[in-house]
Amino acid sequence: MDAGRRAVSGGRVRRPSNATTSSCEVRIVVLGYGIRGRIYAGYAFAHADKWSVAAIADPLFAAGALAAPPGCAVFHDWREALEKADADAAIIALPDRLHCEAAQAALARGLHILLEKPLGCSWEECTRLRDAQHAAGRLVLTGYVLRFAAFYRRLRAVLRTGEIGSLVAINHLVEIGYGKAAHAFCRGNWGREEAGTSTLVQKCTHDFDLIAWWTLGRRPSQISSFGSLAHWKPENAPAGAAPRCLDCAASTRAACPFDAVKLYLDDDSLRYHFAERTDEAMRRVVESSPYGRCVYHCGNDAVNRQTVVMEYPDGLLVTLGMQAFTAKRRRLTSFYGTRGEIFADGTRIVVSPFGGAPREIVPEQHGAHGGGDHEIMEEFARLVEKASPARYAAILDAALESHYAAFKAEEARCFCRGAGACAGRRQA
Ligand SMILES: NC(=O)c1ccc[n+]([C@@H]2O[C@H](COP(=O)([O-])OP(=O)(O)OC[C@H]3O[C@@H](n4cnc5c(N)ncnc54)[C@H](O)[C@@H]3O)[C@@H](O)[C@H]2O)c1
Repeated sequence: MDAGRRAVSGGRVRRPSNATTSSCEVRIVVLGYGIRGRIYAGYAFAHADKWSVAAIADPLFAAGALAAPPGCAVFHDWREALEKADADAAIIALPDRLHCEAAQAALARGLHILLEKPLGCSWEECTRLRDAQHAAGRLVLTGYVLRFAAFYRRLRAVLRTGEIGSLVAINHLVEIGYGKAAHAFCRGNWGREEAGTSTLVQKCTHDFDLIAWWTLGRRPSQISSFGSLAHWKPENAPAGAAPRCLDCAASTRAACPFDAVKLYLDDDSLRYHFAERTDEAMRRVVESSPYGRCVYHCGNDAVNRQTVVMEYPDGLLVTLGMQAFTAKRRRLTSFYGTRGEIFADGTRIVVSPFGGAPREIVPEQHGAHGGGDHEIMEEFARLVEKASPARYAAILDAALESHYAAFKAEEARCFCRGAGACAGRRQA
């Protein structure tokens, strides 16, 4: 280990006595400098007392599509960065299909990891990761940022008061929003399942995680699921629709809510997906990137509406819905208890005890994912300091439970589709 490098011992980051160049606690390598990688690296850059960014890897540096941040080494592939960077921890924000391999390699190098979800694209990959983590004894913290958001922390605290009695059912609906869904699950990274994993695993491991948190980590005993790709198929294209929006007739585009010009130029709510967000850059996106393609002609197969029903050993029923065709982007949750109900929509929490007056709570929220994107970095630093292999193993095992439920739900969905009019049910 070179002189300027702090030593990590069992997770505790120590600075050698001759270290003079930096007072930071955790030195990270960022693998994948897309939206997520930039958010985490941005937090580290802004909190240089606690973090230093040793290196960043992304092939877009080579293509000139990304500007290299000053003061850190830049690589074009995650493997080279892991090999050469002098780091204590890795932030893995790569495309889903690379998560498992990169995480195993980082663990083999003794690094702690903040790993974006999904942890793997199959349950088999998840178990390989678990074995590697148990062998390495390092931290693998999953990017379940909603757990760290002020809103969801408050919601869980309200739930834990027991005010609504025993929980009998939870209905949770993920409204993806038609624009975001067209961007991510039709035109973009997750439009084809073979590129990574299913929409449910990709998008809703967050929600399986919240449900596991609300139900105190219990595993459901039965799972059923139905879902499929709706609407974004060639047979639903308007007559004469062109492969790219800019080549479509003006009247066709005017009637199409998924028109790329409307989504990327007229509106700015999806621009955060891109490193460059000017009108000029967006025009190029619409003209020549995959995001300018007609939603009916993307060759996509990702499911865009799905329902999962889970039954727990004590009879608790949980319904998780995922829907692309929504005007808003939000999560709606209803908790039904024997003494009242709670409704939450990501902004408000309404507690309605039976026979009592409802009360509304509006938690203060700041930042992306309600502050969760930054809070998770704080938690990551705290956990690295803790140096507890037993705790690290428990953290990953708990995170894997939500993946387990998601993969089981997918199994149930595929089973049902294959079996025609079947019972649609799987033992979990
Ligand atoms: N926790 C959350 O709320 C949340 C939200 C969105 C995405 N995600 C997850 O984060 C991950 C990244 O998503 P994103 O939206 O930032 O995607 P993105 O496409 O913006 O970023 C991925 C980056 O990885 C780079 N990359 C590809 N191959 C590489 C390689 N061999 N070496 C180094 N870099 C490589 C790409 O060029 C790209 O810049 C995904 O797994 C996604 O599922 C999590």
